[in-house]
Amino acid sequence: MFSTEGFSSNYSLLYHIHPPTVIIRTGEPIDVSPKAATENILKHRCLNGFQINPNDDYLKSRKIVLFNNDVQITIAAPTKGMNDNVFYKNADADEVLFIHEGTGILKTQYGQLPFSYGDYLVVPRGTIYQISFDSPDNRLFIVESFSPITFPKRYLSKYGQLLEHSPVCERDIRKPQDLQAIDQKGEFLINVKKKGYLYPIWYGAHPFDVVGWDGCEYPYAISIHDFEPITGRVHQPPPVHQTFDANNFVICSFVPRLFDYHPQSIPAPYNHSNIDSDEVLYYVDGDFMSRKHVERGMITLHPAGIPHGPHPGTVEKSIGAKETKELAVMVDTFHPLKMTADALGIENDTYITSWIE
Ligand SMILES: [Fe+2]
Repeated sequence: MFSTEGFSSNYSLLYHIHPPTVIIRTGEPIDVSPKAATENILKHRCLNGFQINPNDDYLKSRKIVLFNNDVQITIAAPTKGMNDNVFYKNADADEVLFIHEGTGILKTQYGQLPFSYGDYLVVPRGTIYQISFDSPDNRLFIVESFSPITFPKRYLSKYGQLLEHSPVCERDIRKPQDLQAIDQKGEFLINVKKKGYLYPIWYGAHPFDVVGWDGCEYPYAISIHDFEPITGRVHQPPPVHQTFDANNFVICSFVPRLFDYHPQSIPAPYNHSNIDSDEVLYYVDGDFMSRKHVERGMITLHPAGIPHGPHPGTVEKSIGAKETKELAVMVDTFHPLKMTADALGIENDTYITSWIE
C-alpha cells in the first residue's frame, strides 16, 4: 500500500515479489539542502541556465538555483544515467522533470516512461526511480514541490475529469508502461532525499519487483507540445497558461500560439506588478516577443515588489504580429524565492538595468 496524506488521499497498491522493507545497511546522510547565497531578493535576475556544469552523476548534476519553503527550482545537465543497482527516491517532494534536451527512459516501480524534448515527467513523492539517457547531451529543468502537483481545480469536474476547456486532457497523459517485475536479490542502493539530506539505504531486493499495481498514485508524462493554448481577441491573462497547480505556486506553459486578433490589439504583454508573486521564466525555444537577448536555457526572476514588462521596442515590434513560436515554462511562487551560490555563479548581473532604452 502506497498512500498519501495519511490514508485519506490518492493511493496505489503495488504487488511486490519480495517485501519492500529489507534494509541490509545504511550510509551516512549527505547534506544537499539549498543555502541562500544572498539576502538581496528585490532584484530582477537573469541566469544562464546552459552555463551550469554538466556532471556524469545524475544526482550531483542537479543544481538548485531558486528555492523557498514550497518549491525548489533546479537545473541539471546530466551526461549519464544512473548505474544498474542505484535508485533515487524523493521522500519530501513531488518532482516535475521538464526535458529541455535529451531522450531516455524514466524507470519506476510502476513501469517505464520513455521521454523526449518537451516532456513534463510528473513524479509523486516517494516514487523510486532510475533515469537513463540515450546520449550525454541532456538539459533538465526540475521543479520540486513540497505539496502534491495537481491540475488546476477550475479545469476539473467535481469527479476529477479534465473538462473540455482544459488545455490538457486525459488523452495527453502517458502512464508508465512495460512493467518488468525484476526478481533479483542482491544489494540495491536507494538514495532517499528527506528534509535536505540524502540517505543512502541498501535493500536486499530489486525495487522494481512489482508484478502489477492499481490505484491513482503514479508517475506520468505529459508533453508541453500537447498543451492547447487559450487565445483571445484581446490579451489573455497569464493564468490561461497554467498547466499544474500546487500549494503556493503554479507551473505554466507558454507555447506557440496565435496572437490576440482584435484589429487594435498589442500582442506584447502589459507592464505589470504582480505584488504577490515571484515570477520565474525558463526559456525553452523559439522567439520571445517581449524580451531582447534571450538565449535557450535562460532563467529570469522578476520578484514581487517591483514591476516588470516588455523590453524597450518589443511592444512596437509586436504590433501586427499574428503568432509567436515561443516555448517557455513559468513558475510563479506566492512567497519570495532565495538564490543559491550555483545561481549567482551563472548570473548575468546587468539584467536589472536592461529596460533602459
Ligand atoms: Fe510577468
